Order: sequence, then C-alpha cells, then structure tokens
Amino acid sequence: MGKIIAITNRRGKVGKSTTAVNLAIAFALSGKKTLLADLDSAGACARAFGFNTRKTNNNIFNGSKPEISFKKAISKTGIKKLDLIYIKRLPYLDEYKVGGITANEHILKSTLKPVAAGYDYVIMDCPPYHAGTINASLIVADSVIIPVATGNFSTAAVRSVLAQIDEIRKNYNPELMIEGILMTNYEFNNESSFNLKKELFNEYPKLIFITSIPKSPNVAKAFEENKPLMIYNPEDRAAKAYIKVADELFERKSLFNSKRKN
Ligand SMILES: Nc1ncnc2c1ncn2[C@@H]1O[C@H](COP(=O)(O)OP(=O)(O)OP(=O)(O)O)[C@@H](O)[C@H]1O
Ligand SMILES: [Mg+2]
Repeated sequence: MGKIIAITNRRGKVGKSTTAVNLAIAFALSGKKTLLADLDSAGACARAFGFNTRKTNNNIFNGSKPEISFKKAISKTGIKKLDLIYIKRLPYLDEYKVGGITANEHILKSTLKPVAAGYDYVIMDCPPYHAGTINASLIVADSVIIPVATGNFSTAAVRSVLAQIDEIRKNYNPELMIEGILMTNYEFNNESSFNLKKELFNEYPKLIFITSIPKSPNVAKAFEENKPLMIYNPEDRAAKAYIKVADELFERKSLFNSKRKN
C-alpha cells in the first residue's frame, strides 16, 4: 500500500507546491513509483509539468463512478515512475456528511486510497485555504510534511497546523504521523531565517528536517518555463536539497522498519 503524504500549511506561499513537485521527482528518481496529487485549484503542480489547468477535465467527481473518472484523470509526467492527478476542488464543505464522515473524506477514500495501492508514495499538495480539502487530505494521509518559510507568524502557522493534526487524530485518523517541518526558501546568511530555524528547533527538536531548502532564483525561473526545478536545473542547490530531504525520509523509514523487526 502506497504511503500517502500530505504537504500542508494554511499559510500561503511557503513552498508547499515547490516541495510537492520536487520531492515527488526525488522519490521517482530513487525508483519509487509516485503519484503527485495536486489538490489546489491554483494547479501549481500541474502547471509545473506543463499542463494547461484551464483545459484539464475536472469533472472527476460528477459522474456516478468517481473511482473510474479518477483513474482516467491520472496523467504521465514524462518522468519515469511519476504520475500526476490534478483535482480542481473537492466538492463539499466540511459540514456535508455521508454516514457520519465528511463527504470529501468519503470521496478520497473511495478514489485515492485504492489508487494509492498501485504506488510506493502519493504526495498530496494541499491548498492554503479551503478547509474541506485540507481536512479530507489529512484524514486519508498517512503522514504530513509542513513546509515553513521565513516571515511573520511562521511559528504561529506551524502551531496551527499541529493543532489541526491533533484534532484530526482525535476525531478521524489516530495513525496520522508527522514526517517533519521543512524550512524552505532558506537564506543561510540571514538572521531572520536563522532565528526562525532556531525557534522551531527549540520548540520541536524532533520534527525539524536536518536539510533546509535554500532560496534559489531558479525556483521562479523554472515555474515561468512550466518546468519542475529538478528538470530545469538538476544541479541547482534547492533541487539537490530536495534529493537530500527524500534521503532523510528514506533513512528514517528504514530505521523505523529495522527497529520494528527487533
Ligand atoms: N527555495 C525557494 N527559493 C526561492 N523561491 C522559492 C523557493 N521555494 C518557493 N519559492 C517561491 O515562493 C513562492 C511560493 O512557492 P510555492 O508556490 O511553492 O508555495 P505554496 O505554499 O504552494 O503557495 P500557495 O499557498 O499559494 O499554494 C513562489 O513564487 C516560489 O517561486
Ligand atoms: Mg501551492
């Protein structure tokens, strides 16, 4: 069964989509069959692979058999072992329930979960708002990565995600794990970047990824060219950092597995 990882932070512009795209590529390059699920109507992940999101058929959940239209909406990315699905919007607000669970959860469980079985990893890029989508994605996820960029209220945003994760654990998904907090757009010689990392490290020493993603002008350049950074310039330092983050994740996983065997 593929591991489903949600990339989330309700704060906008913190590097969620950049992380989702480039981490998904790093996974695929390591030989892991990966599905990148773009759950944000802005379609930043889909656009990074050159998809025209306006023309993309988004009637995935309108028909009587959403599990079939979901499978049909999965596209190849041109990168071996990496597929993509762009879901413009999960259709329901949180209040809408089906048999006691949120309708969006029901939808993702009946469409994404079975598809995930055919992959090693599913990476979900979440929107900064639309609680119905974020909650549903955290309910079906196995784990979460929280990207954080330097700026006002960054620590408060992390606290808010962690509180949300607690709620989801209590009410829906007790197994939900946190892979880690990832510093993005990181300026190594900048005091605010350093102070934020220090603050987060003091508060959550076990959650911070050792690797930070450096600020790089190539991130925006790649996006302008509708290319993922990792393809636009694999030698870029931010691209290389995403490979390191993937390695950190694999290392922890193998540690965890070997511990479980003992
Ligand atoms: N490592 C980086 N170096 C330089 N710029 C970056 C880096 N990571 C992200 N950015 C820039 O920051 C902006 C936000 O990045 P991104 O779209 O990945 O964030 P997001 O959290 O998905 O945003 P949104 O909340 O709007 O979905 C973009 O303009 C992107 O080019
Ligand atoms: Mg985004």
